[in-house]
Amino acid sequence: MSREICAGADIFFRETFEGNGRTCGSCHPVENNFTIDIPFIDALLDINPFDPLFVYEEDAELTDLETYELKTLGLIRENIDGFDDLDGKYVMRGVPHTLSLATTIAPDPAHEGADMPLHRTGWSGDGAPGSGSLRDFLTGAVTQHLPKDLSREAGVSFRPPTEEELELTLAYQLSLGRTNELDLTRVKLTDPQANEGRLAFLDPQRGRCNVCHSNAGANHLDTGRNRNLDTGARRAPATGNSPGAFDGGFGGVGLSAPNIDVLGRGILDGYGDGTFNTPPIIEAVDTPPFFHSNAFGDTIEAGISFYGTADFKQSPAARELEARFGSPLQLRNGDIDTMGRFLRVLNAAFNLDLAKQRLQAARVLARRFHDTRDDVQKRLMELAEVEIDDALLVLDANGAPLHPVSQYRLRQAKTEIAAALSAAGWSARESRISIALLRVQNARDQFGSNITYQLGQGNLMY
Ligand code: HEC
Ligand code: HEC
Repeated sequence: MSREICAGADIFFRETFEGNGRTCGSCHPVENNFTIDIPFIDALLDINPFDPLFVYEEDAELTDLETYELKTLGLIRENIDGFDDLDGKYVMRGVPHTLSLATTIAPDPAHEGADMPLHRTGWSGDGAPGSGSLRDFLTGAVTQHLPKDLSREAGVSFRPPTEEELELTLAYQLSLGRTNELDLTRVKLTDPQANEGRLAFLDPQRGRCNVCHSNAGANHLDTGRNRNLDTGARRAPATGNSPGAFDGGFGGVGLSAPNIDVLGRGILDGYGDGTFNTPPIIEAVDTPPFFHSNAFGDTIEAGISFYGTADFKQSPAARELEARFGSPLQLRNGDIDTMGRFLRVLNAAFNLDLAKQRLQAARVLARRFHDTRDDVQKRLMELAEVEIDDALLVLDANGAPLHPVSQYRLRQAKTEIAAALSAAGWSARESRISIALLRVQNARDQFGSNITYQLGQGNLMY
């Protein structure tokens, strides 16, 4: 384990930058796939209603840091187009997970230009200040989410990150989730419907998904890089409560008046060029709701149905593909469900690889350090179990559960983890972990072949 990744995780989860008490982990918690959603927020309210996430309710200086929609829709108030008009210029966005960033931020040369951000970060690809790099995102996030007061003055409202902190946090963030892409033409899935969903996803005459989310990642098929596109999702925001402006996506900083008709009402009602950044979807199934506005669905199938709507079909991005392939998108009956099953299997395989990675690390620690710092071994086991629970949820597809045998093995693995957690000493713990690992491997073996993820070391940090 590299020291940089450890130190970067320490900053991410514990550093408050002398601000309002929040950390990066307040909105990107490891135990909830680095995002927050309503079930997580509700559970947190039960455990600790004074968690710094809710600081805007306690501190008079921070009343306008968030809106009530954090608690009702999981939406965060973002001054993505600048801090010059706090009441008039902000958008409401869901919290994206920070998994697999190493594969999602390289900008597509199709959109190169003098003022383009160095990396594609955030829902609209322009989330970081300054150079627009992932490194600088930290400074932007501290300024946006962690200040003690809304003047957001560096050195007063918060302590700006040091050069070293920028480097370390960057190293940590690049080591989360996956570091490779799948090759979907070689992946074979055992579940016939999931495999059919894979074919629909790949087929430009059917799902057409693979053009933008090649190999179910975040990169464009033509360039292997991350592209911004106007897919029409902006036309259906989750919140009816109009903020100062609707979300116009990329660009918009420095504009003094709205420049885009976001909702299609014939009014200039937002800032930006209407494009958003393509997210990876291997990680999507267990991080609902979907899209920048959290407007689409609690299940992946509900998320995919967006592509059958007029908002998508009439969008510039859909029209461009229509011209390229000579016909409008023609999802067949059942394609949404089969593609849902396909993405469920990919996500569950990812969950189980994370679980294995953490269990293996716990076992190494047990063998090497026995009962010294067994709290670390236990936390890694708990975080492995969180992923197993996610896999179980993901496999429990709408009405037609996937891989019942795997689900059974996973429940057995959970029993072993429970026994390992309460074991009297390291040797009993170690042997329970070994059995849990076998069960998880056995469950995953049922899914198919060539679903091969390389994982970053940051997944072991908390
Ligand atoms: C109050 C909630 C909140 C806190 C605290 C928070 N974030 Fe975020 N984070 C968000 C939201 C909302 C977005 C989407 C921003 C956008 O679209 O530009 C985001 C996006 C990101 C992204 C982009 C992910 C991607 O896929 O492109 C990174 C990286 C990130 N945050 C890192 C951090 C770091 C580092 C910190 C700690 C300083 C932090 N965040 C603190 C809510 C939060
Ligand atoms: C023209 C490019 C394009 C095509 C084609 C496309 N997508 Fe997307 N997809 C995007 C962009 C851009 C976003 C982010 C949109 C936003 O947040 O407004 C997105 C978002 C998503 C999300 C939400 C992810 C999350 O974490 O919230 C899912 C799920 C998804 N797409 C699945 C699919 C599927 C399945 C298909 C095929 C039926 C498909 N996409 C076709 C560009 C595309």
